[in-house]
Amino acid sequence: MNRKYRKTVIAGNWKMNKTPSETKAFMNEFKTIMPKGRWCDVALCVPAVCIPAAVRAMRETRVGIGAENCNANASGAYTGEIAANMLVDAGCKYVILGHSERRAMGETDAEVNAKVLTALENGLVPILCVGETLEQRETGITNEWITMQIKSGLNGVAEDKIRKMIIAYEPIWAIGTGKTATAEQAAEVCTSIRTTVRHLYGARIARSITIQYGGSMKPGNAAELLAQPDIDGGLIGGAALKPEQFVDIINAANQE
Ligand code: PGA
Repeated sequence: MNRKYRKTVIAGNWKMNKTPSETKAFMNEFKTIMPKGRWCDVALCVPAVCIPAAVRAMRETRVGIGAENCNANASGAYTGEIAANMLVDAGCKYVILGHSERRAMGETDAEVNAKVLTALENGLVPILCVGETLEQRETGITNEWITMQIKSGLNGVAEDKIRKMIIAYEPIWAIGTGKTATAEQAAEVCTSIRTTVRHLYGARIARSITIQYGGSMKPGNAAELLAQPDIDGGLIGGAALKPEQFVDIINAANQE
């Protein structure tokens, strides 16, 4: 973290978990134990049908609600899809884009880029996810792969818009596996992402962009990961489903 130059953002990614009723129960419990400090921003990205319940429950708080995907088109014949302006109208502030679980379902770099542009146009904060497979890591091409994903994800993003984005580095082999990247491994890639942003947008923007780590972040390892200067927060799956664990991670981000 480096609070002097950029925001620390702790974001939950619920994936396909929790019903609207369960969302309400979670939010009510979370609200009672949520830290009141103002160091970091907190977001919860939830299934689309849970957005209204989440927004309603968190209205009086500074927790931002987000979605887990959006369509790149403004409107039209895309059965089952959700447009960015619908998310905004429903009260969302954030949207996760290019998560590896969606890329595994066929989402391409070009599609992720189109979604990033649409989300930004609509005033959402995109959380752009990038990450390598275990095989890519073992063959030594992690940094090249991530650089390619960043370059294509940010293609056409204007300088005044890039400041609003969050980038999440999520090594695929660490997601949901309990196998966290070491703080050194995570820091190395997050630093390399910032270098790529510097080459694309200059030093001032690179210094101000929030880069999260995601992949089995939990209360036991959050503090060490967040102590790395280039890791400005977390994108948290499993541990964001339990209010007390999520709060523990927020507390780790709020350490002096
Ligand atoms: P995990 O998921 O924390 O359960 O590993 C992270 C993510 O996929 O965003």
